[in-house]
Amino acid sequence: MILLALPNSESIALRLSRSMDATLGTVDVHTFPDGESYVRIDADVASRDVAIVASLHEPNERLLEILFLADAARESGAKRVGLIAPYLAYLRQDARFHRGEAITARTVASILSARVDWLVTVDPHLHRFASLSELFTIPALDVHAGPEVGRWIARNVDAPFIIGPDAESRQWVERIAKAAGAPFTVLSKIRRGDSDVIERVPDLAAYRSSTPVLVDDIISTGQTMIATVRHLRDQGMKPPVCVATHAVFAADADAQLQAAGAARVVTTNTILHQTNGIDVVPTIAAAYLVERGALDRQSHTESVSESVGMRARRP
Ligand code: R5P
Repeated sequence: MILLALPNSESIALRLSRSMDATLGTVDVHTFPDGESYVRIDADVASRDVAIVASLHEPNERLLEILFLADAARESGAKRVGLIAPYLAYLRQDARFHRGEAITARTVASILSARVDWLVTVDPHLHRFASLSELFTIPALDVHAGPEVGRWIARNVDAPFIIGPDAESRQWVERIAKAAGAPFTVLSKIRRGDSDVIERVPDLAAYRSSTPVLVDDIISTGQTMIATVRHLRDQGMKPPVCVATHAVFAADADAQLQAAGAARVVTTNTILHQTNGIDVVPTIAAAYLVERGALDRQSHTESVSESVGMRARRP
């Protein structure tokens, strides 16, 4: 197998190549003065299995580059072309909330399904679509960061009490709490706009001696966590540790979150960021190696859980 990395995924691709016994090919990516993208594979991919490694932070640019790279690999004779997207964007718009809106989760999945043969991603935002198979027509693995996040919490946080900000976070909160051996609760959230979030927080007085750990799949504007941090402060709770899988961090969201009173902000390395403190490369590599045959054969999606143990996430 040969891995081809797109911008900002070079270091994760290098480490994946070592764990997956693959080689790392060189890709030249350039943006022309008019904004168009250029990609060139500087490696011999003829008759090889190729995996593009691209986290979809800055998704519009990355998506086009993935399509160009997949076509270039195929036209250069690659046997199969897969995509390892540690962060998969556009999944949160999974319904038409207002008349005339595009359901971007479906559109992006159909574009990618037409161009690559298989997909591996970490903690995709699955809410109204229960599994990747409802979106993708190619084999797709959903790798869970939860066990690794839970182990990090158990090692680094004193008396943790895990808090998920909204109903859809229950899926990863449960996994994390189990791995951390900690109690948890799930709050309710109303989002009124990009930066306008209302959190409902019950009375948490029973957990005043614990360290609150807010966990979510994505921190984007940071408003979900900031609203919760403020409620916890008002209730006299300790400053929380904020943990997320995907460090999207729009603008200066990480600084705002620290300023709001987070004791610490920690993310996994699915997106390169200064808050990365939890390494999910071994989890991705192990999941891929276990499911490699299935990715080659399957015509439907399966889900990987508990790091590498195969188990359907939902019936
Ligand atoms: C949405 O339900 C997600 O799970 C996150 O809670 C959300 O994307 C976080 O966004 P933000 O940081 O902009 O509040």
